[in-house]
Amino acid sequence: MSDILLEIKDLNVKVGDKHILKNINLVIKKGETHVVMGPNGSGKSTLVNTIMSNPKYEIMSGKIFFEGEDVTDMAADERAKRGIFMSFQSPVEVSGISVENFIRTSKSAVDDKPVSVLRFNMDLSKKMKELQMKPEYAARYLNYGFSGGEKKKTEILQMRILNPKLAMLDETDSGLDVDAVRIVSEGIKDYKNDDNALLIITHHKEIIHNVVPDFVHVLVDGAIAKEGDGSLIHKIEEEGYGWIRDEVNSSNGN
Ligand SMILES: Nc1ncnc2c1ncn2[C@@H]1O[C@H](COP(=O)(O)OP(=O)(O)OP(=O)(O)O)[C@@H](O)[C@H]1O
Ligand SMILES: [Mg+2]
Repeated sequence: MSDILLEIKDLNVKVGDKHILKNINLVIKKGETHVVMGPNGSGKSTLVNTIMSNPKYEIMSGKIFFEGEDVTDMAADERAKRGIFMSFQSPVEVSGISVENFIRTSKSAVDDKPVSVLRFNMDLSKKMKELQMKPEYAARYLNYGFSGGEKKKTEILQMRILNPKLAMLDETDSGLDVDAVRIVSEGIKDYKNDDNALLIITHHKEIIHNVVPDFVHVLVDGAIAKEGDGSLIHKIEEEGYGWIRDEVNSSNGN
């Protein structure tokens, strides 16, 4: 069996009238960690939202395959069942549904079978403890009145419980204090194994402290402008994106 989890071919995406993603090609294999970086507004969230099938983003052309299956026209819940997960850059507050209830319902929907409440609650408590979340948060409404950092930890909690094949984390580190970044980064390490894969969007290197990125992709103006290994993150951290833009401009003859 092929090791390829996700394959994106010549993807073009628009939001409203705006053409955002341009000719994206990306292959993610089992066991790999991919990091996507890029200036604000370059299309990073658009990319993961499109992979998750957020209806706001319209595919103009191109294909998305997951484990060899064409999922380009598949709805988000079907993609989730196949093992795709994303954590949101700005998680929404949901009044009336507790964290516990939400994650249990998601787990049973994704696994397509009822979950044992006892086993689920044990797993939830264990993973909340690992993420240093207070037990009472399980009974609180999802993200309702949560601080920015608490919302991000709740996203990682969902990832840990749902245990997807491909986890895409959209700036899960932004807004976290130094200790929380470490705890979340540990959670990511605990999730990662040879059978699953990570796509991490970040502006900083701390989040990947515990996982070694195999590939770094840099989006500029909706296109992949540069690709490399983990050393690219350090170069960007020190030098910014100007040199990548310069490279793109000179290869375009500008
Ligand atoms: N509904 C919309 N109508 C028009 N443009 C939009 C819409 N939604 C997003 N965009 C634009 O798409 C571009 C890409 O946005 P996206 O959220 O993917 O960027 P990003 O790389 O995730 O940025 P950040 O680092 O700030 O999170 C931005 O210029 C944004 O303004
Ligand atoms: Mg974004």
